[in-house]
Order: sequence, then C-alpha cells, then structure tokens
Amino acid sequence: MSSVNQIRSAFLDYFVRNGHEKVASSPLVPHNDPTLMFTNAGMVQFKNVFTGVEKRHQARAASSQKCVRAGGKHNDLDNVGYTARHHTFFEMLGNFSFGDYFKEGAIELAWSLIAKEFQLPVDKLLVTVYHDDDEAFDFWKKIAGFHDSRIIRIASSDNFWSMGDTGPCGPCSEIFYDQGEALAGGPPGGPDEDGDRFLEFWNLVFMQYEQVAPGQRAPLPRPSIDTGMGLERIAALMQGVTSNYDIDLFRALTSAVADLTGAAYSGAQAASHRVIADHLRASSFLVADGVTPSNEGRGYVLRRIMRRAMRHAQILGAQDPLMWRLVPTLVAEMGQAYPELVRAQALIVDTLKTEETRFRATLARGLAILDEETVGLGEGAKFSGETAFKLYDTYGFPLDLTEDALRPRGVVVDKDAFNAAMARQRAEARKAWAGSGETATETLWFALKERVGATEFLGYDSEKSEGVVTALVHDGAEAFVLKQGQRGAVILNQTPFYGESGGQVGDVGVIRAKGVRFRVENAAKKLGDLIVHEGVVEEGEIVPGLALELDVDHSRRKATRANHSATHILHEALRQVLGDHVAQKGSLVAPERLRFDFTHPKPLTEDELSRVETLANEIVQDNAAVDTRVMAQDEAIESGARALFGEKYGDEVRVVSMGRPDPGVHHAFSVELCGGTHVSRTGDIGLIAIVSEGAVASGVRRIEARTAEGARTYLSAQARALQDIASLMRAPVEEAPNRLAQLMEERKKLERELADAKRKLAMGGGAGDGAGPEARDVGGVKLLTRAVEGIDAKDLKSLVDDAKKSIGSGIVAIASASSDGKAGIVVGVTDDLTGKYSAVEFVRVASAALGGKGGGGRPDLAQAGGPNAAAIEQALASVEDALRGKAAQ
Ligand code: ALA
Repeated sequence: MSSVNQIRSAFLDYFVRNGHEKVASSPLVPHNDPTLMFTNAGMVQFKNVFTGVEKRHQARAASSQKCVRAGGKHNDLDNVGYTARHHTFFEMLGNFSFGDYFKEGAIELAWSLIAKEFQLPVDKLLVTVYHDDDEAFDFWKKIAGFHDSRIIRIASSDNFWSMGDTGPCGPCSEIFYDQGEALAGGPPGGPDEDGDRFLEFWNLVFMQYEQVAPGQRAPLPRPSIDTGMGLERIAALMQGVTSNYDIDLFRALTSAVADLTGAAYSGAQAASHRVIADHLRASSFLVADGVTPSNEGRGYVLRRIMRRAMRHAQILGAQDPLMWRLVPTLVAEMGQAYPELVRAQALIVDTLKTEETRFRATLARGLAILDEETVGLGEGAKFSGETAFKLYDTYGFPLDLTEDALRPRGVVVDKDAFNAAMARQRAEARKAWAGSGETATETLWFALKERVGATEFLGYDSEKSEGVVTALVHDGAEAFVLKQGQRGAVILNQTPFYGESGGQVGDVGVIRAKGVRFRVENAAKKLGDLIVHEGVVEEGEIVPGLALELDVDHSRRKATRANHSATHILHEALRQVLGDHVAQKGSLVAPERLRFDFTHPKPLTEDELSRVETLANEIVQDNAAVDTRVMAQDEAIESGARALFGEKYGDEVRVVSMGRPDPGVHHAFSVELCGGTHVSRTGDIGLIAIVSEGAVASGVRRIEARTAEGARTYLSAQARALQDIASLMRAPVEEAPNRLAQLMEERKKLERELADAKRKLAMGGGAGDGAGPEARDVGGVKLLTRAVEGIDAKDLKSLVDDAKKSIGSGIVAIASASSDGKAGIVVGVTDDLTGKYSAVEFVRVASAALGGKGGGGRPDLAQAGGPNAAAIEQALASVEDALRGKAAQ
C-alpha cells in the first residue's frame, strides 16, 4: 500500500524527472494576492505567470499545495464530516506548464503517471472533455487508447475552468475512476453523476484564453497547463478505500481521537472523529501561516472551524480540551512535507488550548439552551433566529455551529430572524453612543458624516491642496465659527492630511487663507473615511464654506513614510527568516520610529535579528520602485479574488508592493493591503536599524526600528558613546570590548583582594606580620574587642566568626564606624559559653551606648547599630563591663 507521504513524493519526483521544478506550497494566506481569503488551488501562486505579467526562469513546475475552502464562495464547512470527500483543508497536487507543453504533453504526462507509475487499473478509468474540444478527445484516444464511449463530452461549465469572472481560463479534462456498482451514482454528464461511484480525481486545465471582460475572451500569448489532483482522493483510490477518511493519514488522526476520548471510530459518532480530524488540519495549518482566531475576516473563519471541532470533541465525551493533544500526531504525519508545521508546533498547541478552554466555559450552557429550545420541534421545523443570535452573541456559537448541532434533528435556523436580531443589535449599539463626553462626540460624527459625506484623501500624491470647510466642531458639538485662539476640529471636502489609521499616526501641518491660520496638531479618521483636522486657530476665524490652502508638514510626513514602508519590508523579512507563521498583530508608524508586533513563540536570537536587518537593508539598497494600485472591491474580485477578508477596507482595496523579487519568486518582495503613505522607491528609506526586540503577549513579539535620519542619528549616537568608552580606556574602538571585559575581571579580583586586606587590617594584622587578634581575660572568660572602620555588616559578621575560631572559647565584639557617622557592632559567643552568656544581651548594652534601638540575633551571634559612631569605644567598654558583671554572678 502506498502511504499519503509516498504518493505525494512519487507525484513530485515523477514531474521532476520530467523536467519540472519542484515548487514549495505557497502559504494559505496568499502573499501575492491579499484580496483572496485563502489559497484554494495550486495555480494561485502562478496566476500572473499564466497571463504573462510575471516571468519565470522555469517553464514547468510541480507542487503539492495546501488549500483551504471554508468561508466565502467555496464553503464546504457544512458538509465536512458527513460525506466521504468534503474537507476544509486539502492538498492539491499539480503540474504546470507556462507556455511549454500543452494538451498533448499534459495528457501524455498524466496518463503515464496514472497508468504506468501508479498502475491504476486502466479499465476503470474514463475521462471528460469540453464538448467541442476535438483535440483533447483525439489525444485521449491516441494516448490512452480509450474507446469513444470512455471519453465523455460535457457542455457545461464543469469542463471549462476559469479562475474568476476574468483571468486565465480554458477547457478542461477531468479523469474519473469507476469504484464499482456497490456505490450509487452514474457516469459524468448523466442524471446520477452526483453519486459516489464515479470519482473525479484529476482535473487538467488547458489554459488557452484570458477572459478580459464578461463576454470578451482573448487567446493567451502562450497556451499553458494547470492541473489539480486531490491528494486525499488519489490516496483513497490507491489504498482501495471508498472514503477519503479511510486513508492512512486520516486513520492515524481518527485513531488518536478515539484513543484520547475513548470513543470508538464507528457508527453515527464517527462523523465527529472526521470533523475533528479535518478541522485539526485546517486549524493547525492556518495558525502556522499566521492566522489567529478572532471575530472578523480570516480569524473568524478559523474560529468557526475550531469551535465546530470543539463541539464534536464534547459530543465524544472529552472532558478537557482535546484538540491540542492531537497536534503531535498531525505533526508526525505531515511535518516532513510541511516543515512550517514543525516550526509552529508550540504556537499551534498554545492557540488550540487557549481557544478550547475559553469556548468550553460557555459551551455546556449554550448546548443546554439549544436542547431546551428544540424540545417539541419535529423534522423540518424552524429554530428561533432570536435564540440562534443569543447563542452567537452570548455563548460564542457561530451560526454554522448551531446549524451543525441542529442537523441530526432535521431542524433549520430561521435565518431571516437571525439577521434581523443582528441588525437590531447594531442599531442599539449606535443609539447607546448618545450620552455625554466622548460618546456624544461619536454620535456627532455619525450625524456629520451623514450630512457632509466622506472626506476625499489626496495625500498619496501630494502634501498640499485646497479644500473647502464643510463642518466645524468645538467643545464636542457642531460649531458655525472657530475664532482666533479657539481649539476645535475642521472637516473639509478633501485633504492631503493623512488621518491616523492602520497604525500610521496622523499628519500635522498648517491650514491657511488670507488672514486665517489654523495649526493642525493631529489629523484623525472617524467612521472609516471622515478626516478630522484637530488643532487651534492661530489667526482670523474659520467658517463653513471657506476655501483654505492645506499644507502638510513635509519632514514629518517624509519620515513617517519611510517608517511605514520599512514596516512592510521588515514584516516580510521576518516572515522569510522565521517562517510563514509570522503575521502582523499590530503596528505603530510614527515619524521618529516604527514598532511592529507579530506572532512568534520565542525571542529572536542575535543571529535572526541580524539576518532580518540585513535582508531588509538589501531591499532598501536595491532601490526598486514601490508599486501602489487601488482597485474597487468588485474590480478586485473580478481580477481573480474569490473573497475579500472583512469589509473594513471600504470600497477600495489598495495593494502596496515593494522590493524586487528574488530569482524564482514571482511577485514583489512584499505585497500588502494598506491604506498608508509610502516612499516611491525603497532607497528613500535610506537605512533600517532595529533598536529593540521583546515580548508583548504570549506568542507575540515586538520589534522597534528607526529609519533614514532617525537611524543615522541613533547609530551615530551609539558610535559616539562607544568612542567615548574607548578613549576612556585608551584603546582603539575594536579592542574596547575585550579591554572592558579585562577591566571588569581585574576589578572583581581587586575587590576580592581589598576585602581580604580590610579584614586582615581590621584584626590588627598587617599583611604577613603574623600578629593575630589578642584576647584578654575578663572574669575567667576570654574577651576580644576591636574598633574598625569602613567594614560593612556582612563582613563584620565574618570577622567575628573568624575571631571566635581563633580564640577557641570566649566572646568577641567588633564595632565599625561608617563614613556617614553611623556605627554597627557584632558580638559573638563561642558555643561552649552560650549556656551562660548571650550575644543578644551584649549587643543590647552596646546599642544603648551607640544610641540605637537594641539590635538582635541569636545567643551565639547578634548585631546592633546606632547613629553615634563617636561612642564606639564606649560601646565596646560597656560590653566588657557587662561581661565582668555577668562573670561575677
Ligand atoms: N485549477 C484547477 C482546479 O482547481 C486545476 O481544479
């Protein structure tokens, strides 16, 4: 039996032997097309190569591409788990020709792979071609020797593949396998084609045209080939199983689910094992490519997938979060083919665990509500949309999770009522702004925007323009004049001022007319596209309808621009150095610095930081033009985007690309959806210096950097500081670090020697004179007292200990005066005498002499201090008196 891993390698090896370059899977979040929600076919990374916009040095390629179809148009989520073939995540094996071989070559290569290499029984195979594609028909006849009846002509769009409403397209030929009469279904094109019996497993697309506009098709400069074979499907065929979920890879996952939950993979509950196995793959690969669960866009699709799986874990009786415990099995199965999975393992585990723990807190309550509300509902009944909304809003049940839970009962959600409840909640949220202070201002922005409309932003191309005042705000309310000295906000029909958004700070500058000057201290953005100039009237007065000249502070804008472009470059450099899991989690772009937060599980090493900085500066030095294209959303969708993530970008999608690609990479170094302002060539950034790296939250790191003049002044300040250090050490800069290390080593040694010397000196013995401390007899007890200087408390104790040892039996009292006029005393009593004498009593007496508060310790060692250093001798004498008195008792 061939395992999934063997089949994947055999496919790629075969095409490499046949002159193809093996190309790694592109990430699930497409980097060359930020308008597409997820990569959903092998050709996505090559889409511009087909149309000739991008050139490749290789005319043939082969890949095994990670794909996700969930959310948006290609949404398979509802069916996953209940059918033999649906997946949210799957692998698409593909071979591609960019103007090299065409129909004949594609059919020959495909036939030789399946018939000779894979040795599929040829009598079970049949193919479809587009109804008027006689060429493909003839090639199949000639190459495979098929009888006419096994080459089915299909007129529908099933056999004409296109990427979108526009873009490369062409007729296609699909290869089917007849799994035998035991399964229901008829041949393709017939009335029963939807059954499972005839399984389509490979689609060969003959890219021949470019759909320029609806109804208008032009031939491609060079006809090309795009193929897609479902790895899970071919594995099922080669392993002789009729469900994708019975191939080795899925068996490993479903057995792990069974082991961990104790629920066998059989009967009705097997659907839950399948859901969990499928969703584990989608979730883990999405996290590895930088998606994190959230409530919007891609993050919400991920959350829906995760929560659906987590509910099924609960159905199987899992008492604790389950998904994260399955990650090692997944990594064992797929980590070799996709090393990014291994690199991101810790992050995946962490993300799954956190999400499941959070969701579990409300899952049981939500399910109980769901049960209560379905009592008495029969097949085909409608479930209250209000309750579905409550489950969504309060218990975090995405609508499709509720639908999935109702599915076995044959009950459907009243979606109109669900949508109405959602709309009502939004309206209430808006009303809730009415109040005081800030919230009142928010209501004001709504009203103003409804009346004056969005501000047109001109600042991508210029820093100066004219504008007409459309509204004024003073003290949180609309005003009809702003007088000299007054603070307030000015709204104009158009402006070159960038309103703070997307991490980039707002512009500052001046707005003026004859006799009128308003200083813009910040430009803010309200409700997406209302730009508000906040500041103070320095001269004259401003009224609605006034035409003004608007002038952005050039040097500040210039520095901000460099920092914003540098942020994009660093983002991509981090991704290339650390892996595809790096995704932006936040950023701040100001004139003096930039800050970038991203997903990564651990601190960056010195080496990683230096590689990131080097790569980023290579792009800067390359000085390629920065390309910015603005497209309407529907234009973007027409140009191949199947779905847009989130709606937060308004009507226009702005795509910023910068940096020449490496050889073998076919889009700009960095491609991002971004509304910010950027340099026109990367060289304008001058220099990028990373100044710090640290943690912000679990799994999220932050780097700070400076560019251009900011980087230069930062680095030269550092260099000057180093120069100062070097000249203090009288060493050349290069030798300074060694020299400093040496000095510190020497200093440590000297400190040790000094402490020793002080101790010796304190005890009366100059170094090497042999004289030890002398004790005298007081009432039959040996007493040694000594006054020393500048020895701290810790060392006093060790002096006392040493002295106790040297006298053998007796009492030691040593007092020290410090330079600030205070005094300390330590008294020690050897163990044989502690029955009668206590050090604590002696220090109390001494402390009184020193003006202290009594001190404390143990009978063998006690310590006290006091403010009166002049009384040290007295304190020692009082210890002697006390001893004499006690000895006489
Ligand atoms: N791009 C073709 C498909 O997705 C191969 O089916």
